[in-house]
Amino acid sequence: MELTVDARPPAKIETEALVTYAFEQDKPIEGALSTLDAATGGALSKLASSGELTGKMMETTLVHYPQGLLAQRLLILGAGKRDKLGSAELRKLAGAAVRMLKSKKVKRLVFAVREKDQNAESAQAIVEGILLGNFELEKYKTDKKPETELASAALAGFEGGAAGEAARGLERGRIIAESQNFARELGNEPSNRMTPRTLAARAEAMAREAGLAVDILDEKKLEELKMGALLSVAQGSSEPPRMMVVTYTPSTVKPGAAVLGLVGKAITFDTGGISIKPSQDMEKMKYDMCGGAAMLAVMRALARLKPACKVIAVVPSTENMPGGRAQKPGDVQIAMSGKSIEVINTDAEGRLILADGVCYAKQLGCTHLIDAATLTGAIVVALSNVNVGVFGSDDRFTEQVLTSARAAGEKMWPMPMDDDYREMIKSGIADIQNVGSGKGGGATVAAMFIKEFTGDTPWVHLDIAGTAWQDDVKPWSAKGATGVGIRTLIDLAMKFGSNEATKA
Ligand code: BES
Ligand code: ZN
Ligand code: ZN
Repeated sequence: MELTVDARPPAKIETEALVTYAFEQDKPIEGALSTLDAATGGALSKLASSGELTGKMMETTLVHYPQGLLAQRLLILGAGKRDKLGSAELRKLAGAAVRMLKSKKVKRLVFAVREKDQNAESAQAIVEGILLGNFELEKYKTDKKPETELASAALAGFEGGAAGEAARGLERGRIIAESQNFARELGNEPSNRMTPRTLAARAEAMAREAGLAVDILDEKKLEELKMGALLSVAQGSSEPPRMMVVTYTPSTVKPGAAVLGLVGKAITFDTGGISIKPSQDMEKMKYDMCGGAAMLAVMRALARLKPACKVIAVVPSTENMPGGRAQKPGDVQIAMSGKSIEVINTDAEGRLILADGVCYAKQLGCTHLIDAATLTGAIVVALSNVNVGVFGSDDRFTEQVLTSARAAGEKMWPMPMDDDYREMIKSGIADIQNVGSGKGGGATVAAMFIKEFTGDTPWVHLDIAGTAWQDDVKPWSAKGATGVGIRTLIDLAMKFGSNEATKA
């Protein structure tokens, strides 16, 4: 999609649709809206006094052929209260505008920001909203209509010196949203078209295009490295497993500098294995690789945004299948770290592949670890489809992740990690078992299991089981994979690189 900054006054821009927004207050028509109101001979004031235009969040007012403007349509979105409007809201508004206008066959639009929003951060959020809103799930529809795609969007309302800010925000927003859409595309692929090998090929192609180092470990290499936990999950499938390693190295690396490790769960399909899942909703388990896809997407963005720190993504990938060779409940496996694991439930496979993932990331020199995984149904019970569950072994590092989540407009919530939960994964026969012996607390128990393999390395675990995909369309986004976590981790990596305190 063509994205530009248009420096002309919005009333003077010829376009299929001019989009702006009104605030919910006594007089919704004020500031830049007054200018448009004057140009249209008071049409907007009339809409406001009749009660049609109130500025309520997500309200849409569409005026066709507005007199006095060069645009064919004027769309005014309700933006809620002025002091409540931030990047997260602007992103959603822009996405909602795109989706509404696309349904009316609009191919070109201009989004005009209001006074006080003439900055790079707002421009970035709007561009992200536009690109995320334009994303569709049409790949396998044979009657897809190409005209439903938006062809171009421009940012307007950035007066004078603010145009440079707009251009900066635009570029950043484009990189981030295109990366998020890359992850959504991978996540939406059905499992017959996205096996560990195809995912690895996609990772390799992405890395080469972005100029990142990439290493794909095949089953032979995984055997050599003694990744018994990952291999135990893979043994039930006729598709061989892969471990993807994608590395970004900044132009100057200080000796002893921190290295960020991003480990993502990429189960391309989770049947549960011998502890097989019920068939209801099982098709959703094609999304069980969304953590891995997120980490690859973050790398795609970082290659272009160039943080000051080294970042390594480690993505273990396999199917979890029942079969003649599948592991069975009660089997004991030896992880790469040397720890023995009693596999009580073969459906708790994500933690197994992550165990070897974090172990390998540490071996590669990562000083800080973050994993993202569609790990537990329990996190959906706790937080529904709203928040990502955040678990950490280091309060400061966990707080940094939560701060980035707020900056990126992604909802995340801290979860407990008391040592008491550690008791629940004690095994009678091995060092640990892969599910809890007690009742409840399933999301923390799962996190506790991964923690066993992180040792002293500061680590944060993101359980995205409730947020990695959406079952229904939202006004600002298509259904399917969401690409959750990506914006947070990009923000974190950028700050991490410039934050002296995190350097050893
Ligand atoms: N991939 C699932 C978790 C999941 C559930 C993701 C629902 C998205 C939506 C994971 O591998 C799993 O099966 N976890 C089990 C663990 C249990 C056996 C301890 C679960 O949560 O039921
Ligand atoms: Zn499972
Ligand atoms: Zn799973």
